[in-house]
Parts: sequence; structure tokens; C-alpha cells
Amino acid sequence: MAKAKTHHVCSECGGTTARWQGQCPHCSAWNTLVEAPLESRAEGHRYQSLAPTHEVVMLDAVPAQEAERVGTGIDEFDRVLGGGLVEGSVVLIGGDPGIGKSTLLLQTLANLSATLEVLYVTGEESASQVALRARRLGAGSARLPLLAEIELERICTAVQQRRPSVVVIDSIQTLYSAQMQSAPGSVAQVRECAAQLTRLSKQLGVAMVMIGHVTKEGTLAGPRVLEHMVDTVLYFEGDTHSSYRLVRAFKNRFGAVNELGVFAMTDRGLRGVANPSALFLSQHADRVPGSCVLVTQEGSRPLLVEIQALVDTAHVPNPRRLSVGLEHNRLAMLLAVLHRHAGIACYDQDVFINAVGGVRIGEPAADLAVLLAIVSSLKNRPLPRGFAVFGEVGLAGEIRPAPRGQERLREALKLGFSRVLIPTANAPKRAAEGLDVVPVQRIDQALDAAWP
Ligand code: TYD
Ligand code: MG
Repeated sequence: MAKAKTHHVCSECGGTTARWQGQCPHCSAWNTLVEAPLESRAEGHRYQSLAPTHEVVMLDAVPAQEAERVGTGIDEFDRVLGGGLVEGSVVLIGGDPGIGKSTLLLQTLANLSATLEVLYVTGEESASQVALRARRLGAGSARLPLLAEIELERICTAVQQRRPSVVVIDSIQTLYSAQMQSAPGSVAQVRECAAQLTRLSKQLGVAMVMIGHVTKEGTLAGPRVLEHMVDTVLYFEGDTHSSYRLVRAFKNRFGAVNELGVFAMTDRGLRGVANPSALFLSQHADRVPGSCVLVTQEGSRPLLVEIQALVDTAHVPNPRRLSVGLEHNRLAMLLAVLHRHAGIACYDQDVFINAVGGVRIGEPAADLAVLLAIVSSLKNRPLPRGFAVFGEVGLAGEIRPAPRGQERLREALKLGFSRVLIPTANAPKRAAEGLDVVPVQRIDQALDAAWP
């Protein structure tokens, strides 16, 4: 038997090479080339235009109306989408297995099915499994058309016949196109299926939501090309052990990025959390050492998050440094700054830090809160009541400003905080009523202001 012809496809950029190489010649990524069968395909099939226009037009002659949006009936989901699903847009939603992707979209479609024509395509679960889940969600009576199918061509036909307004594909990795020989889930198949569905969505004006799996490295399985093709990329965050789920927008052609939706997983599906700040503050009856409240900013929303630190005498020569929800490398840097510029040494101490509620904080404006929590634990002195901070700490011991300072101050006031330590550059001209704003320039000033 003749050997099937194969080539190598890069899982990062989708580029191809004839033989295996360690490095992709197209995007220079290492170890990303995987063997795939050479696809033969009818000419002219691939390069169809996305939109019905064919002539060159002048920009000012193009009718530019605001895209129509449909609310999903779930406020937090609308928030990450930038106000709702846009007609003819393609949304890719990724996350770890079991985090609630299918649940969220089933709930969304159940809501939408009351007023719109929708279609739920399930390739992962059987129709009866979906029905069982819908019943558990209290959406069992919804008039929700289900299609248990994994062949792309049949799905496209169903969409063309039914003309729904919103389609959910659960998940893109289970689909395959009969025109290609490679297995479902392979780079070529995922890319082809996503491209075909995107084209269909633009042609018919259907809002398409694709569910995608995330690999161990934390990226969407399949080629990166998928992220470029779609209009919006959303990721689920938060660990499956806690009941809170965060959905973050990474790319959005119709709204702001880094927008965060907060949900709680209940026995009846995902519920939006309207006041998430309360969620990331632990309820201490009394002031405790090692705890500092941070005013952070996630997209357009300020959030209050409690940062906890535990500093304890180390009994091994190299003390442990552990951070949960905060950047590990920044912790080492902050400890060095603390030693050099405030004379507080932790070289013989284990240091553990944690952001309460499972939220992941990447912004440097968390530095000051981490520092104060560490010092508070080390000295066993709690911070004052109603006290919150934000600000980045530089290597020279200076406190650098954070973006959107005013909004952070407003959120702190709203949640009943009375004293806020902030970088001098963020100081407002006129402080709000009832809020004691303390601007600081260097970390020794910050320590003095925290424990006068
Ligand atoms: P699911 O939506 O199937 O995850 P994904 O599609 O991202 O893989 O979520 C399944 C998890 O959610 C499972 O661990 C059970 C939990 N769950 C609830 O706690 N309550 C519910 O009402 C539902 C439907 C699921
Ligand atoms: Mg699922």
C-alpha cells in the first residue's frame, strides 16, 4: 500500500513545512510542528469572500450603523461581551474542563429562545445529557432546538435551513469536515471548521459562539489562528474547587478588553454576582495581622480584594516564598525593595501571600498591598480598620501611580472604606466627602502612614 502523503503543521501559526524541524520557519516557535496528512481540496473552495460586497467603495459612503446587540439575559455575560451578542459576530469562549462553559451557554440560549430563533449544537454530550442538564437548570421547558452532530457540513446545512439568530457550537474541537482526512481535534480540522463557521456567520448574520478547550499551557487548543479569526475571545478563570467563576474578555472587536464577569456556580447553574467586591474580602470579626485590602482594576470595573500574607520563621536554610493569585517573581523583588529601602529583612522568614477568593491579579498596582500585608504579618500588627491601598512599588523604593485612580477611590468609598493610601501622582485635587486620602511617595512614608 502506498504511504499516505503527510506534511508538518505548526500548532502556533498554522504554517506548514514538508519535513519535521525543531523550529517553525514561519513563526520561529520551537517544537510546534506536528505531522498531519496532506489535504487535497477542491480549488476555489477556500477563498470565498466573507461579506456580500465586491466593489471598491469610499469609506464615507459605507453605511456605518451601530451593530445590533441582543442581551443574553445574564448581566455579567453581557458585560464581558460589551453589552450583548452582536449580530453576525463570532465569539470564542475557552476554559478548563468542567468550569462551566456548557452551563453558561445553555442558560444563555434558554433565555434567548423565548424571543429568538436559536440552535445548540452539541458534539461532546448526547442530546439526552444536555436535556438532563437543562432540566436541572430549570430551563427544561425552553423551546430550544438541539443538534447532536459533529460533521461540519451537516451543521452548516442545518444553520442555512433554520436561519437561527444565535448558534452555539459545543465544542469546536469535536467537529470535523468531511472534506479533510485528518482526525477531529487536529490543527487542520479545528482551523478549517472555525473558518467555515465564521464565513457562514458573516454571510447569514448569525451570532456564533464557539466553545474551545484549553491546553495544559493555558492556551486554546488548536492553532493560535483561531483567536485571530474570531471577533471576541473570552476565557473562564478561577479554580474549579471554589464556586466562583470569572469570565474575562481577551479580545473584543465590539467592546473593551480585560472586562471581567463574575459568576457563582450554584446547584441551578451560574448566577451573576452583582457586587463582586464583597466576595474577595474575607469577613474578619476583628482586625488581623497580615491582611491588607487592595483596590484593583479589572477592565472597566474596580474591585476590592483582600491580600493576605503569612510571615513565619524559616527552619530550613533557604526559606520558602509562595504566592497564590499574585505574581511569584514580583514577591522576590518586593522583599528585596523592603530590605534595601525600609531596612526590613525577611531572609530568615518563610513568606506566603494569597489573594482571597481565587482571583488572579496581574497588575503591578497590587505591590503596595502585598508589602503592607507582609510587614503587618512580620510585625504582628494589624492595619487600621477601614483601610485600603493601591500603588506600584519601584526598585528605587518609590510608589508609582496606577491607572484609573479616581474610580478606585470611588469604589473604596462605596464599600465603606474610610482611609486610602495611594501614590502621590494619583492624589485627587479634592478628596471625596468621608474619605481620608493619604498620598505617599516612598515606601518608608507608606509604612509610617499605615502605622502612625
Ligand atoms: P460544564 O458546563 O459541563 O463545564 P464545561 O462545559 O466547561 O466542561 O460544568 C460542569 C460543572 O458544573 C460540573 O462540575 C458540575 C457543575 N454544575 C453545578 O455545580 N451546577 C449546575 O447546575 C450545573 C449544570 C453544573
Ligand atoms: Mg462542556
